Amino acid sequence: MSAWRFSRYFLGSPPSITEARRFVTTLLQGSPSVDEAELIVSELATNAIRHSASGRFGGRFLVTVQAHPDRLWLGVLDEGGPSSPQIFCPSSEAEGGRGLLAVSTLALDWGVWGDDTGRTVWAVLPYQPQTAPC
Ligand SMILES: Nc1ncnc2c1ncn2[C@@H]1O[C@H](COP(=O)(O)OP(=O)(O)OP(=O)(O)O)[C@@H](O)[C@H]1O
Ligand SMILES: [Mg+2]
Repeated sequence: MSAWRFSRYFLGSPPSITEARRFVTTLLQGSPSVDEAELIVSELATNAIRHSASGRFGGRFLVTVQAHPDRLWLGVLDEGGPSSPQIFCPSSEAEGGRGLLAVSTLALDWGVWGDDTGRTVWAVLPYQPQTAPC
């Protein structure tokens, strides 16, 4: 299977962060990128719940994992809202504001599409399907 894509909706509540991580781990079992992918999706899912309308009662978000021969595309589509994803400059006093900075450090590239009706925050990682057993 050289290229594939799977997407799944999750309820916009905290237990879905663990479920989204599991979704990614299951899809990427054996790949060296699994830990980075799990962390990125966890940060983006947390942000969708905390900072977008996905976190309102009845809200949801969509996680997509798309594999190409040497690249992995991860996206979290939320239900929008007034604020936009942005990287805060690191400050030793401020609590929080480090999630997207971590995503941008781990990813080859990342970005945001959309507007206050729904935003996709995406990241690209290098991808090898599986580590050779020997
Ligand atoms: N999906 C999103 N929708 C709207 N705004 C967002 C979204 N993701 C992030 N943001 C905005 O970008 C800011 C930076 O996000 P980031 O994840 O770096 O920090 P944080 O969520 O505030 O704190 P931390 O992730 O360190 O707990 C957020 O405070 C929020 O204002
Ligand atoms: Mg965050």
